[in-house]
Amino acid sequence: MSCTVLRNVFAGLLLAVVSKGLSVHAAEFGHVPDNITVSEGESVILRCKIDDEVTHKAWLNRSNILFTGRDKWSLDSRVSLVNSNDSDFSIQIEKVAVADEGPYTCSFQARNQPRTAHVYLIVQVPAKIVNISQDVSVNEGSNVNLFCLAVGRPEPTVTWRDFKYGLLSEGEFLDITEIKRHQAEEFECITNNGVAPPDTRRVRVTVNYPPTITDVKNMPAHLGKAAVLRCEAMAVPTASFEWFRDDRRLVETDSNMKIKNEKTRSLLLFNNVTEKHFGNYTCFASNSLGASNASMLLFRESYTPPGGCSVS
Ligand SMILES: *[C@@H]1O[C@H](CO)[C@@H](O)[C@H](O)[C@H]1NC(C)=O
Ligand SMILES: *[C@@H]1O[C@H](CO)[C@@H](O)[C@H](O)[C@H]1NC(C)=O
Ligand SMILES: *[C@@H]1O[C@H](CO)[C@@H](O)[C@H](O)[C@H]1NC(C)=O
Ligand SMILES: *[C@@H]1O[C@H](CO)[C@@H](O)[C@H](O)[C@H]1NC(C)=O
Ligand SMILES: *[C@@H]1O[C@H](CO)[C@@H](O)[C@H](O)[C@H]1NC(C)=O
Ligand SMILES: *[C@@H]1O[C@H](CO)[C@@H](O)[C@H](O)[C@H]1NC(C)=O
Ligand SMILES: *[C@@H]1O[C@H](CO)[C@@H](O)[C@H](O)[C@H]1NC(C)=O
Repeated sequence: MSCTVLRNVFAGLLLAVVSKGLSVHAAEFGHVPDNITVSEGESVILRCKIDDEVTHKAWLNRSNILFTGRDKWSLDSRVSLVNSNDSDFSIQIEKVAVADEGPYTCSFQARNQPRTAHVYLIVQVPAKIVNISQDVSVNEGSNVNLFCLAVGRPEPTVTWRDFKYGLLSEGEFLDITEIKRHQAEEFECITNNGVAPPDTRRVRVTVNYPPTITDVKNMPAHLGKAAVLRCEAMAVPTASFEWFRDDRRLVETDSNMKIKNEKTRSLLLFNNVTEKHFGNYTCFASNSLGASNASMLLFRESYTPPGGCSVS
C-alpha cells in the first residue's frame, strides 16, 4: 500500500510539531517517525492531528502514558495538554531535558481501529568547554601539554588554534615538544557541534628564557655634552640590569651619571661628559634563567675605537 493510499484511508491524520512556534515539522501516518530536534531548556509542542471519528486518544513517552484524553497520567509538571478537541490533540513539554529524548506516540482509536503516530524527539545541547588547561609558564625547551574538554549533543569537535600563526590542531589535546621562545603565547580552544555558536577559551603559555643582549654600540662623546650608552636585552621574565666599568659596579655616586632601567633596556646617561667618563663599560643583564653581558666604549669623538664593540 502506498503512502497516498494510506493517507486517503486515514485522512486528516497528521502529526506536527511546533518548536518555539517557529519551525514546523510534520510526519504523516505510515512514514518512518520524524525526528524533532529541540535544544535543551526550550519548549516543544508535539502536535497530533486527528479527526472527529476519533473516540479514544492517548500520548505516550516510550511505553509510559502521559495523557489519555484530557486525563493526565504523567506526574511531570513540565508536560501539559495545549489543545484537545475533535481535530487536534497536542501536548507541550517545557524545559526539555536530555532524558526526554526518545520516541513519543500519539495513540488513538478511529472507527474502532487502533492507530498510532510516532515522533522521535532529539534533544541537542550546545557545545561547551567544561575544563581547560590553566595558563602555564615554562622554560624554553620544555614540553607543553594542553587539554580542553568539551561536552554537547551531538558530540562536539574540539580544535586548538595557535593565536600567532593560526595553525590548527584537531582534538582535545595539544602537545608541543621543546617549546621555543618565538612560539605563540596564546592558544585558543574552539568547540562546536552546530547547535549554537562555537564556544572558545584561551590559554596563555609563557616561555621563559635567559637574557640575550641584542644591541650595544660604542658611543662617541664630547666634553661638556650629554651622552647615552644603551643596552637592550630580550628575556622572559624581564631582565634586571647592572653596569660595570673595568670590573667595578657602577653606582649613581656621580651626579653627572644616571642609570635608567626600562622594561627591555637600560640606559647609562651622562649629562655632562668629563675626561674620567671615557672608557669601557659592561652591561650585565640577568633573570632567573641566566645572564649575559656586553661591553661598549664611551670614546672621545675624534677617536676611532679598535675593533668595534664586543658582545657575549
Ligand atoms: C532520525 O535521526 C536518526 C539519527 O539521529 C537518523 O538515522 C534517521 O534517519 C532520522 N530519521 C529521519 C526521518 O530524519
Ligand atoms: C481545535 O483547536 C485548534 C487550535 O486551537 C483550532 O485551530 C481548531 O479549529 C479546533 N478545532 C475544533 C474542531 O474545534
Ligand atoms: C520520558 O521518559 C523518560 C524515561 O522514562 C524520562 O526520563 C523523561 O523524563 C520522560 N519525559 C517526559 C517529557 O515525560
Ligand atoms: C579540570 O582538570 C584538572 C586536571 O585534570 C582537574 O585537576 C580539575 O579538577 C578539573 N576541574 C574541573 C572543574 O573539573
Ligand atoms: C660640565 O662640567 C664642567 C666641569 O665640571 C663645567 O665647567 C661645565 O659648566 C659643566 N657643563 C654643564 C652644561 O653643566
Ligand atoms: C672591555 O671590557 C671587557 C670586559 O672587561 C673586555 O672583555 C673587553 O675586551 C674590553 N673592551 C675593550 C675595547 O677594551
Ligand atoms: C660576560 O660574558 C663572558 C662570556 O660569556 C663571561 O665569560 C663572563 O664571565 C661574563 N661576565 C660576567 C661579569 O658575568
